[in-house]
Amino acid sequence: MRKNMVTVLLLGLAAVGLLAGAAAAAEKAEAEKQGILLVAFGTSEPEARGAIDRIVETARKTFPDAEVRLSYTSNIIRRKILKEEGLAIDSPLIALAKMQDEGFTSVTVQSLHIIAGEEFHQLASVVRTLESVRGKYGFSRLSLGTPLLTTLEDYRKTAELLKRKYGSLGGDGGVVVFMGHGTHHGANASYAQMQMIFDEEGLPFILGLVEGYPDLEGVKRRLASLKPRKVTLVPFMVVAGDHARNDMADEEDPESWISVLRKEGYDVEAVLKGLGDGEGLAELFADHIREASGSR
Ligand code: CO
Repeated sequence: MRKNMVTVLLLGLAAVGLLAGAAAAAEKAEAEKQGILLVAFGTSEPEARGAIDRIVETARKTFPDAEVRLSYTSNIIRRKILKEEGLAIDSPLIALAKMQDEGFTSVTVQSLHIIAGEEFHQLASVVRTLESVRGKYGFSRLSLGTPLLTTLEDYRKTAELLKRKYGSLGGDGGVVVFMGHGTHHGANASYAQMQMIFDEEGLPFILGLVEGYPDLEGVKRRLASLKPRKVTLVPFMVVAGDHARNDMADEEDPESWISVLRKEGYDVEAVLKGLGDGEGLAELFADHIREASGSR
């Protein structure tokens, strides 16, 4: 009888031990709840969204241990999508608050912006604020991945990608004119650095901006000195959205780049694909995520 009591006691202790072990494992699993928050400017064009989806998919495949979520920085676009399509996409602040609330502890925020302009710096402020209360509000690690064009290596890799994708259009006297967005922010100079790399590599690429310097006049000056047999317009933006469809490629609009350049006498075609369509860009952003999460 006494022996039985001991057995029961031992079994009981073993059960407690097992429970404790399970609890510790659960705690560990919880301690490692990893997330990646991708942050794009956003687009109101549903057909253009594939470029962003592709980056999301690549991040999911590349980082299977982390839950990947997407947010948009543009409130105007978020409201438009919600109104027109009933599709709710969070702002970075809301998305991070939800992740904190759901128990994520290790989060990498990855900017999908092209340059470190105003949108990126606003995002950095949000991340810094949450970083400053680290521990108290759940995240034990929070980091921010840089935009596409940050280090010199980034520019070289981007030039390499564009050469792979559009280099053939530059053969036989052709020139590719990229339309970037541009900004009043000092980071606008990033585009000039990109052009310098194109020139250095001898690529027949011209980069002009729809809302910044150099604008279409600058593009015309470069074209005049190159005298190309053919010009192909390509958006230098993650998605081929509103600017690409209207300001760049709208043949009906006499002020669009395609109309203006055709009027100048050039043989012009437009490619309605963003940098994020097709292979390459998603992988460059995955490298930035890896770098920001310290797993490099
Ligand atoms: Co714009």
